Amino acid sequence: MITSETLAKLFPLERDIPAEHRLAAPIQQRTWLVNGQLGTWNGTCKTVLSPVCVRSSGNELKQLEIGSYPVMGETQSDEALDAAVAAYDNGRGEWPTMPVADRIDCMQDFVKQMMAQRRAVTQLIMWEIGKSLSDSEKEFDRTVDYIKQTLSALKDLDNNSSRFTVVEGTIGQIRRTPLGVVLCMGPYNYPLNETFATLIPALLMGNTVVFKPPQYGTLLFTPLLEAFRSAFPEGVINTVYAPGAVVVPRMLASGKVNVLALIGSSKVADHLKKQHPKSHRLRAILGLDAKNAAIVLPDADIELTVKECLLGTLSFNGQRCTALKMLIVHETIADLFLRRFTEELANLKVGMPWEKGVTITPLPGLHRTAYMTDAIEDARAKGARVVNEGGGAFAMTLFYPAVVYPVREGMKLYREEQFGPIIPVMPFTNVEDALEYVVTSDHGQQVSVFGSDPAQIGALVDPLVNQVCRVNINCQCQRGPDVFPFAGRKDSAEGTLSVTDALRSFSIRSMVAAKQTEASENLLDAIVVEHKSKFINTRFIF
Ligand code: G3H
Repeated sequence: MITSETLAKLFPLERDIPAEHRLAAPIQQRTWLVNGQLGTWNGTCKTVLSPVCVRSSGNELKQLEIGSYPVMGETQSDEALDAAVAAYDNGRGEWPTMPVADRIDCMQDFVKQMMAQRRAVTQLIMWEIGKSLSDSEKEFDRTVDYIKQTLSALKDLDNNSSRFTVVEGTIGQIRRTPLGVVLCMGPYNYPLNETFATLIPALLMGNTVVFKPPQYGTLLFTPLLEAFRSAFPEGVINTVYAPGAVVVPRMLASGKVNVLALIGSSKVADHLKKQHPKSHRLRAILGLDAKNAAIVLPDADIELTVKECLLGTLSFNGQRCTALKMLIVHETIADLFLRRFTEELANLKVGMPWEKGVTITPLPGLHRTAYMTDAIEDARAKGARVVNEGGGAFAMTLFYPAVVYPVREGMKLYREEQFGPIIPVMPFTNVEDALEYVVTSDHGQQVSVFGSDPAQIGALVDPLVNQVCRVNINCQCQRGPDVFPFAGRKDSAEGTLSVTDALRSFSIRSMVAAKQTEASENLLDAIVVEHKSKFINTRFIF
């Protein structure tokens, strides 16, 4: 039986934390990277509490202190932004004009150094956000793969541009060029992967960057600062450790930011975009809210559906933008589905992130368990119930998943993105009602459809692909493989990310054109042969 008492006992005494998973010492992060220098911060710092609590011998629980990081202000964010602006130098800086092959070399140097920090970074992901060790390692490895794939895609992109095209008497060479200064901010749930999914392509395309780590998931970048410093020219990447509300609107209002790369909430993105004085000069690459639904048809394979829906709703405690956040199940199979789903849920291991096979781990703070409890209370007050034993029980940051049924319009869980271990289930009679839920949603990232009738699935896919950007058939929603386009409609995203799309998102095509005359041909030929331009060249990168 799961209760808050049994959950509390899953937190360890400090001395019982396995030695191999302990941090050698709290990370008192004081360095920041600006203009190629690792400065030392002597001002105010913020204490970092892990989602993991420790029990005292008197059975009191408190979140473990794992370090601290600087709380900077406007002066430092101005400094970081000015360093990025100077390094870009209106497109004349060393980095934006560097040959692509040389930029690739710098990034390869960075990846090499990054890989040497695997253990330090994955340990910090685990301690800072409570992600299981195996998922933290997967996040790191996936990010390294992503960088390698991006490097290879960039070679292809550049090689395809390494020639002239002649059309209607005009000679042209078309290449992708950088946009300027990118302000890069990632989310806490995939602090490394999602941050690097924008930061790396932004850098590779010749932009300079100001990088603000997420509120939870800051320390894990500490082991990478030296790699950033040494792999790239000064000012190309700069860090800011400051409350977003204090420094980010200011950076945008300065008009010096050309690209806002934010994985976060649509409310924040809306506010930030409005601060920029030149609205169409700012490009926004945004990964925002989502409330992905699963539509379970009467002929769905129940075992497969349960398995995928468990993964979809509860991987990393439901803290994925792609998580399934509403299950819409045909009324004729709702009872069977709920029975099998709750049986399988009961087999999931709850515990500390370093434990083998663990699925449910602590949430980043007490405000998250408070939100989950409030959302369940709201649904209960409006006629739903928690149908799994122990669902909604919690101890400090550890929250046992709750299956809430039947969820209806008017309940918070109907529309709000819970971003945590609550599984709202809604029955439907007519497939049009399920479709209507997706159509009337403010979100438009993905949907899953479970069923086996080709006619029914086909008829559902057609309207759904015009509502969301990925329809998953008989599987959960997810971002990967990373070569596939990751996008969203409505309030869910702006721009498309994937290995190749991201390179395009952080660049613009620019071209050199000349009339096809002998004089032009001779001139262009001389520029190429004598290596007089980095843009006009036909070099092939192997
Ligand atoms: O939080 C959003 C992530 O990009 C989701 O990635 O679907 O691979 O877990 P994933």
